[in-house]
This record gives sequence, structure tokens and C-alpha cells, in this order.
Amino acid sequence: MIEQKVTGNSAGGAEWGCTQDHFYSVDSGIDTPVIQRAKGIYMWDTAGNRYIDASSGPICSNIGHANRHVARCMYQQALKLDFAYPRVARTIENKSFTERIARLAGAGFERVFMASGGSEAVDIALKFARQYKHAIGESRRTRIISLMPSYHGMTLGTLAASGDATFQPVFGKMAVFSNKIPAPMTFRLPADKTARSYERECAAALEAKILALGPDSVLALIIEPVGGLATGCLAPSEEYFNTIRTICSRFGVILIYDEIMSGAGRTGTFIASHRWPNAKPDLVVLGKGIGAGYVPLGLMLAPAAWVDELRQMTGFNIAHTANANPISCAVGNAVLDVIEQQNLMRRAEQRGQYLRQGIKAMQTRRTAVGDIRGRGLLLALELCHKYSRQQWPAGFKALQRLRQFGLKHGLILYARRNNDGQYGDWVMITPPLIITQNECDEYLLRLERTIQDFESALKTAGHL
Ligand SMILES: Cc1ncc(COP(=O)(O)O)c(C=O)c1O
Repeated sequence: MIEQKVTGNSAGGAEWGCTQDHFYSVDSGIDTPVIQRAKGIYMWDTAGNRYIDASSGPICSNIGHANRHVARCMYQQALKLDFAYPRVARTIENKSFTERIARLAGAGFERVFMASGGSEAVDIALKFARQYKHAIGESRRTRIISLMPSYHGMTLGTLAASGDATFQPVFGKMAVFSNKIPAPMTFRLPADKTARSYERECAAALEAKILALGPDSVLALIIEPVGGLATGCLAPSEEYFNTIRTICSRFGVILIYDEIMSGAGRTGTFIASHRWPNAKPDLVVLGKGIGAGYVPLGLMLAPAAWVDELRQMTGFNIAHTANANPISCAVGNAVLDVIEQQNLMRRAEQRGQYLRQGIKAMQTRRTAVGDIRGRGLLLALELCHKYSRQQWPAGFKALQRLRQFGLKHGLILYARRNNDGQYGDWVMITPPLIITQNECDEYLLRLERTIQDFESALKTAGHL
């Protein structure tokens, strides 16, 4: 049976090969379904069960599955030109895709460096920042500042930039970890703080950190303009971004927005930073929704002024084999067609509001719905006791249980503990942007059933 071959987690060395989850902790405790086909917002497993792709995988499948236009472009491009290496050849696909991206991103982001995924793109942005400052004579600048908690990827460089304390004990001796400032978390505030006063304190911590490190040693601040899995979609205010922009400019620190989750229209604008015209970053990183799961794709957006200036000096001579692959470019272009033709940025805003309202209504009926936050269709539902805000003991494995109940009720949900759950437990409410209103209703119904089962399990375990 195919099912047995692909699911077996207990091979014990007897089988050849394995599915990727074989590497993850057996402690995850979830019966991961074997998916054999997908269409729109739905996926089907080998047993014929249908699921809603409730978090778009890891917030990636923004335009849904099996889009015929994208598939056709992919096929046609593969027949026409499958590969040409950017160090030895230029392609029309590279130019046309990046031209479109740059126009969508707007002035200040005229140049686009293509990568093969999110972590690679973040890594490239950090290296580009360093190469630029080095070339213009600010070579003492090497230090990165980022938020705790935060997430920027899994390469050695990007996990070190991420705000997750669990990485340090394992990889701490192998990578240079960034300098952390607190993220302005809103749900469990320190005593005597309001969300606004804490946010101001967190913004001020940036200046204090730069001064403590020595302003001429600080290279960049990297931040998610709308958080993802690490913060449960923390969405700081315009005032916060204006303040950090001002501080970075004052000290010559490069401001990088990691929009790997929030970009490509998910929060209602092409990049989330479009919301704050006075807080424009220097560099932006995109991934996930830009290839929408059809191709591995990441991007760094940079100002023409810097790229062209650098080109006259050292240049930025970094390349990975799959960068600017013509098939990826053609597919990226086709994904943009779908985003524009189906007005998906506007839909992200509308459906996001609809789901948020639905979950707020659910919160009046359910005890385990603590908070719903985010922007557009980048939302997270925080699981905790809604009155006491207390989390459940780690041994209860709240997220695993929720995901398992989700599967029972036809939802593939993405949730994973970060920072050992120190900041909370949440699940990503991030369906594909193509979701219709009827499908949102189905989603909410299935989610409520899932949470009902979750609450029953809490009661059985004596936690509710
Ligand atoms: C904000 C952010 N940055 C970087 C990454 C890393 O992207 P990838 O998983 O494509 O390497 C992610 C992935 O979840 C992310 O959410």
C-alpha cells in the first residue's frame, strides 16, 4: 500500500528513503495525512478525505492549488527555456518578472535579486547590506539587531537572526547570533503597561541597543512588519514603524522588512510596508506567496541607487545555482497575473475581516479562544483561557491536539511551538487568498467543531 510506504514513521532503518516528516520529532504526535491531490483551497488524502488547506501550508499557497494558468505557464516555459545561469546568460523572463515586481513594490525598490526561498533571500539581504556598507567605507558595521520573538529562517545565518531562544543552545557556537530587542507583544503585557506604552518602550529599546553596541558597528535592523508564527501575527502600529525608521536613519542602520509571510498581497497591500509611507524600509525580502507553492522562490528588493553604486565598486557577487531560474520567473509572473486578475489583495482584506469577525463571535461561545490578531488574511488565533489568559501545561500538547482535531474536522492547520511556548500558543488562520465567503463559513464551522473537541479534551484532562 502506498499509504503504508509513505506514512511509516517506524521504519527503524528497514526502509529506503522516507517522507520529510521522518526527520521531525516523533513527539509531534500527529497523524499527518498523505495528500495526493489538491484544488483551490482543498486537499484530498489517499483515503479520499477532503481538507481545507487552512493555513495555506506554511502561509504559502496564496492563490490556491492546481491553478491552470500557472500550470500552463510552467509547462510552456519548461519547453521553451528551462534554465540559464545568471552569471553567464541573461533572460527575458528574469527582466519581465522583476520589472513587474519592482513596479508593484514602488519607488525605492527598483532592483530585485532573485533567490530560491525565504531563508536564502533573508541571508542575501543581510549579505547585501554588509557588502554595501563595506564598500562605502563603513566596514565596522557587522552587527544585526532583531526582535525577540521573531523568525527569519533556518539557514545558519537566518536562524541566528531569528528571535527563538531554543536555537542558541544547539547552534550558538556555530553562528553569530543577532542582538535582540523586545517585540512589542500586545496580549500578555508587563505589569503597569498598556499596549501603546509598551510599544513605545520597545521602540526606544532600539536606540538604547544601538548606543550600547556602538552606532558605527550596527549594520541592520531586521523585522517582520506583520509577524507570523513566532509572534502569532503581531501587528505593531504605524507610530512604532515611524519611530524605528527615524532611529535607523539617525544612526545609518539599514532597515530590512522581512515580508516573506506578509508580502505578495496577504495583508491587503502588495507589501505590508505600503501602509506606512513614512516608515519605508531600505530593503524588503519576499518569499512564500510570491511563488505561491508552485516554485521555490524568494526575492530581495533594493533601491537602484545602492545597487548601481555598488556595481561601480565591488558589486554584489553572490549567486546560487537556481537564482533567477526562467521557470521560476515565468511562474512568478503567472502568480502575479492571478493576484491581479482576481483582485486578491482586496479579497485578502475583505475575507480577513470576515474571518476575524467570525472568530470574535466564536470567542463569545468558546472558552479556549484567547485572541485573534494580524492584518488581512495573515491572522493567528491564540489558544488560552479567554478570561485568565492562562496557557495549558506543555504536557497537554495543546497545538498538537488542536491540529489533530482539525484533521478530524477537515482542516489542515499550521501551528508549531516557538520559544518553548514562552510567549503563547497560537494557530495560523491563513487560508489561500482565493477563499470565497461560503468557504469562509465552512472554515469557521469546521474550526468551531475543532475547538469544541479541544475544549472537551481540556475538560477530560482536568484543565477546564
Ligand atoms: C518571516 C519569515 N522569514 C523567513 C522565513 C524563511 O522562509 P523559508 O521557509 O522559505 O526558508 C519564513 C518562513 O516561515 C518567515 O515566515
